[in-house]
Amino acid sequence: MTAQLIDGNALSRQLRQQVRERTTALKERGLTPGLAVVLVGDNPASQVYVRNKVKACEEVGFHSVLERYDATLTEAELLARIEALNQDPAIHGILVQLPLPAHIDDKKVIEAISPAKDVDGFHVASAGALLVGEAGFKACTPYGCMKMLESIGLKDLRGKHAVVIGRSNIVGKPMALMLLAANATVTVCHSGTADLAAMTRQADIVVAAVGKRNVLTADMVKPGAVVIDVGMNRNAEGKLCGDVDFEGVREVAGWITPVPGGVGPMTITMLLVNTLEAAERLRP
Ligand code: GUN
Repeated sequence: MTAQLIDGNALSRQLRQQVRERTTALKERGLTPGLAVVLVGDNPASQVYVRNKVKACEEVGFHSVLERYDATLTEAELLARIEALNQDPAIHGILVQLPLPAHIDDKKVIEAISPAKDVDGFHVASAGALLVGEAGFKACTPYGCMKMLESIGLKDLRGKHAVVIGRSNIVGKPMALMLLAANATVTVCHSGTADLAAMTRQADIVVAAVGKRNVLTADMVKPGAVVIDVGMNRNAEGKLCGDVDFEGVREVAGWITPVPGGVGPMTITMLLVNTLEAAERLRP
């Protein structure tokens, strides 16, 4: 069997078109969704990410501002900027690009963002809302994975066993909660889980979010399973690759997300969706 691809670029285009249409409707009522992206320091990867986020905002008609600060910015100065953005009526979403320089406590900064503007979904209030099933912003990457499952007809996951490998606060843990909310049976593993293959072989859905190549190989996958690859790594030739041995696993799985062109574009798309929703909440 050769797995069918879940095309994150195509799905993103479709969702961004919907965002564009809802944005036009909102603007006709006098409200333009606004996103502030804050970058501190000159991490080269972060610079690319924030540029892409701002560009994506422009493409759907949002107002966006990129605030760039020197790595010498103090924590107090950054907290003061967050407070100003919390009060700014033109800004509906605030994203502080991580990692922050070592002298700044990123938890403190994230908790300073108003939960009503936490479009990254990293605030403890957003995480708590997800835990108890209340309306809050969902972390963008796992939210994008859920949309990918939905795109292949997997919305209600009752009776499905999902295995998540990786338990970070920004992907693994919120992913597990979103799968639970969709009625799946969920197992959360670690790259070091004893006999990981015995776990993944039971799964109808596997989400790999470790940040290490070849965490999931063909022998670990049940025939026909859906495989979502959140990893972003480089192989020996410097080519972008995920956590999944794509060539091997695609021969066993029913569906698989490629890297690049899978989960990656969905993360920014869900940031746009969250920002639009933050604005829409003001004008229901
Ligand atoms: N750094 C890497 N990924 C992300 C993300 O999704 N959001 C933020 N704020 N920083 C990141």
